[in-house]
Amino acid sequence: MNFLELVKNRYSCRSYKPQAIEEEKLKYILECVRFAPSAVNKQPWKFRIVNSNDDKAKIQQCYDREWFATAPTYVIASVLHDEEWVRADGKHHGNIDVSIAVEHLCLAATEQGLATCWVCNFDAEKCKNLFGMPENEEPAVFIPIGYANDQPKEKKRKALEEITE
Ligand SMILES: Cc1cc2nc3c(=O)[nH]c(=O)nc-3n(C[C@H](O)[C@H](O)[C@H](O)COP(=O)(O)O)c2cc1C
Repeated sequence: MNFLELVKNRYSCRSYKPQAIEEEKLKYILECVRFAPSAVNKQPWKFRIVNSNDDKAKIQQCYDREWFATAPTYVIASVLHDEEWVRADGKHHGNIDVSIAVEHLCLAATEQGLATCWVCNFDAEKCKNLFGMPENEEPAVFIPIGYANDQPKEKKRKALEEITE
């Protein structure tokens, strides 16, 4: 699979098989996350692996969707606001950094035959409370990971001419 094929194969999976994901695959994926670039190399992030039944019940309360609850594993990707780079004009870069790392995660998982979905439409305050996150930590993305139990839909994307000039 070349890089373009990998990119096209990644899709938002919204139904997972109950089968657990292999520890080796998870380690490989997290190694790809670890090597993501970040502004001024601050690495202002934390990745919480949600595997226990207790933690799964907590994350499912923060994003209450039937399909979401089918995933065997989740990752919570957080920005550490006390570690992120802030440009001279005040622009914060932690969310950009975490986004890059999350897409590394999703592409690495795809390469390993696993499926994922970016999820941001969750209750962030509830998540902070349930997981006892410190003040500086903002949960930015939930990523369910597992073996797909659905099929990718046709990708709708803007034409190249529309997005370049
Ligand atoms: C930043 C971001 C936030 C997203 N949040 C959600 C979400 O909360 N729930 C959801 O079902 N999908 C979510 N998605 C998935 C998008 O809907 C999906 O990526 C888009 O429709 C393109 O489809 P594809 O991923 O299958 O190529 C999110 C994607 C991104 C990049």
